[in-house]
Parts: sequence; C-alpha cells; structure tokens
Amino acid sequence: MRRKLIAGNWKMYKTANEAVALAREIWAQAKEAGPVDVLLAPPFTSLHAVEDVIRGSAILLAGQNMHHEPQGAFTGEISAAMLKAAGCTHVILGHSERRQFFGETDEGVGRKAVAAHAADLTPIVCVGETLAERDGGQTEAVVERQTKAALAGLSVEQVAETVVAYEPVWAIGTGRTATAAQAQEVHAFLRKLIGKTHAGAESTVRILYGGSVKAENAAELMSCADVDGALVGGASLVADSFLKIVKGATI
Ligand code: PGA
Repeated sequence: MRRKLIAGNWKMYKTANEAVALAREIWAQAKEAGPVDVLLAPPFTSLHAVEDVIRGSAILLAGQNMHHEPQGAFTGEISAAMLKAAGCTHVILGHSERRQFFGETDEGVGRKAVAAHAADLTPIVCVGETLAERDGGQTEAVVERQTKAALAGLSVEQVAETVVAYEPVWAIGTGRTATAAQAQEVHAFLRKLIGKTHAGAESTVRILYGGSVKAENAAELMSCADVDGALVGGASLVADSFLKIVKGATI
C-alpha cells in the first residue's frame, strides 16, 4: 500500500550542463508513472535546468537542504519557497553530511521539517548512527532521538506524508551496505516509534534505506517489509546504475 520511492542524491556533483545530461538519460527511461516513484536531488544550481528536463513527467525533484526561515539576511542560504518555485516537491533534511560537516542539530532539522511542510514541500528526514554508536549498542537510541526531534513539530497528517531515510553513517559512500536484516530491524523500530509519537501515521510514512545502495543489493533491501525505497548517492550519478535500482525496486 506504500509506493516505493527511489531518490537520487547527487550531493555536490554535476555542473548544470552535466546535470541536464544525466537528467535526460533518466527521463528517457523513467518519465512515465510506474509502480515506483523516482526523485532527483541535484545541487541548487541545477534545479531549474533539471526541472526543465523532467517537466510534465512523473519524476520528482528535491533540494538537498534549506533554511528554516521563510526569508531574511542569511547569506548563502535558500528557503523552502525558493525550492518550491524551482519546481521541487521534496527536500532532503538532516543528511549525515550536513550534521557532520555543517553543524546541523536534531532541533534544527525539526525546525526545517516544520518550515518545509508550511511551504508544501515534503521533507525527506535523514537519521542514522555512526559505526561507534552501532558498536556501542546505541543504534536504536540514536535514531529514536533524531527521529523524535525531526518530527516533533509535525501533526499526524504531516508525518504520514513525510519521508524518513534511515542512513547508517558507516554505510554512506563506503561500499559497506547494511544487510537486509539490519535495515529491516531499524526500519521496523522506526515505524513502531512513529506509531507511538504520531499514532496513525506509521502505516503510511515512507521509510527509505540509504548507504551504498547499488543495483546488486537494491532488490534484496527493497523486499524488506518496512523498506519503502532508497536514498541513493554514488550509484545515482550514472543513469544506468540508478535505473537498475529503480527496476530492482519494482520487482
Ligand atoms: P551512497 O550515499 O549511496 O553514496 O552511500 C547515500 C546518501 O548519502 O544519501
């Protein structure tokens, strides 16, 4: 009953011209609405150009970050309304790289999630433990703290529409992916948690897995009961490998 979502996070890769070329290749194969939702998250400077390519298709567009204020003197930042005007339907919030390198906090991610919904953007809220936290048996405590803070200001209806991405930090860009069993365990935990904090939203909230998802492991991960799609970094930068992941999620 939950549609799967395969989201490509292009991070700080691709100039506008390169982004258009990649978007065209993906568009050619994924423009029609299929059983899986497909989403692209290019850098801000390529949003307009990519939107031009995918306009009228079933492909969704997301920003990779935003500021929580609607506007203001915040040099270097962009707002939810700006993303919306550029054609975005979604925004990635609280990615571990934002938390690790740019000082994003649990509370800050919560403020951004509220601002995203206020602007009619669907947040893709990222949570996930580091290797030290996993080894220390803290995985559930960490993702619980992050998820509670990210969703704290949202209503049940808003959480039902929100996307959560479980991305173990040790699996991001390392080639070391979580096993399907490890992913399922955390996803089931998160769904149960949301059932407690926002009762009723747990059956519709989509929970994506992210961290070294590639064509070879996508189908197995996507077959887990509580895995509703993938947030893909490296493998989303090449049309062929990204489209194979989309296909893998369809089976
Ligand atoms: P990766 O990145 O697929 O390159 O591990 C995933 C992400 O950071 O969203």
